[in-house]
Amino acid sequence: MFITDDVKYIGVDDHKIDLFEGQYIVPEGMSYNSYVIMDEKIAVLDTVDWDFREEWLNNLKAVLNGKKPDYLVVHHMECDHSSVIGDFVKEYPDATVVSSNAAFNMMKNIYGATFEPKKQVVKDGDILELGKHSLQFVTAPNVHWPEVIFSYDKTDKILFSADAFGKFGALDFDDPEGWACEARRYYFGIVGKFGVNVQAALKKVSAFDIKTICSLHGPILNDDISYYVNLYDTWSKYEPEEKGVTIAYSSVYGNTKEAVLFLEEELKKRNVEVSVFDLARDDQAEAVEDAFKLDRLVLATTTYNGGIFPCMKTFIDHLLDHNYQNRTISFIENGMWAPQAMKHMKALTDTLKNITYTANNVTIKGATNDLVKENLSKLADELKELN
Ligand code: FEO
Repeated sequence: MFITDDVKYIGVDDHKIDLFEGQYIVPEGMSYNSYVIMDEKIAVLDTVDWDFREEWLNNLKAVLNGKKPDYLVVHHMECDHSSVIGDFVKEYPDATVVSSNAAFNMMKNIYGATFEPKKQVVKDGDILELGKHSLQFVTAPNVHWPEVIFSYDKTDKILFSADAFGKFGALDFDDPEGWACEARRYYFGIVGKFGVNVQAALKKVSAFDIKTICSLHGPILNDDISYYVNLYDTWSKYEPEEKGVTIAYSSVYGNTKEAVLFLEEELKKRNVEVSVFDLARDDQAEAVEDAFKLDRLVLATTTYNGGIFPCMKTFIDHLLDHNYQNRTISFIENGMWAPQAMKHMKALTDTLKNITYTANNVTIKGATNDLVKENLSKLADELKELN
């Protein structure tokens, strides 16, 4: 695949994977992107996951067409991108490995290799001259690991952005939902904790005239760059992207579910966007994604062992882990004899930044009776007022 006359794609699609990073379902697979800049000096940008080393080395050979690479630039050391560095160096021992100092420390720890003397450490602002092209490096710590660097090719105006702007899904899958949906689930799952670092990286790259973004996952972005950058800006500031209510619930015998479905209908009657997740059965990463996308969140669960039902506890842990903030939260609790869940959920969400709570919260003692429905309607009214 040609990105420009001189920049070629040599990445691979993974349709064998079940869980990306051991936890995210990826029914449409995953791409591990890698690129080559063909110039007076030839630079290979990143490798791929170990399972695809042969395919990747063959892709590289086809593009090189008998030439030898001068550089391997390592933007990120996570194993889905770095596993084939050793094989590359064996195949092309004259090439110099270019990366951040932190990445070289990781190479030593992970692969037991220092790559001396064919090693070049780069830092913010350093430039690698290739001929017609030059790569300017930008450190982007914690987007997603501390060693990460971006690079910018000012000739073709390409930002090589490591994991940033990546999405779930292989490249041979034409996602009918477009980029944002799976890019958002990817962002909040994988990079979302590091909003401050993403903001810092966005500030650094704002100086560049970017026409194309080449991430390590997902499609090459070369249409309206401001669309992608603006979404990353919103996400990394932890601002809601849209008005609406996410309802995340767990239910043992269906009574809490009945209350949630009643609230969902009441909100729809009031023309409020609503997104509902059964935390025991639905993908929790989707629930986290919508909790960040929308501005209000209802947590509904049963009391269990005097506390919170396990899958709700896990969901709140995800919110805490990813620095959930700047939202309004409501609670629905259920308990046959001593409802306790609301108290425990609030103790956890009180640790989050800039959370407001609705005045109306709902307690159920078993069944969703008329009184519960009346209280749910009041909660729907309050949530509508916040629209
Ligand atoms: Fe795609 Fe953080 O590795």
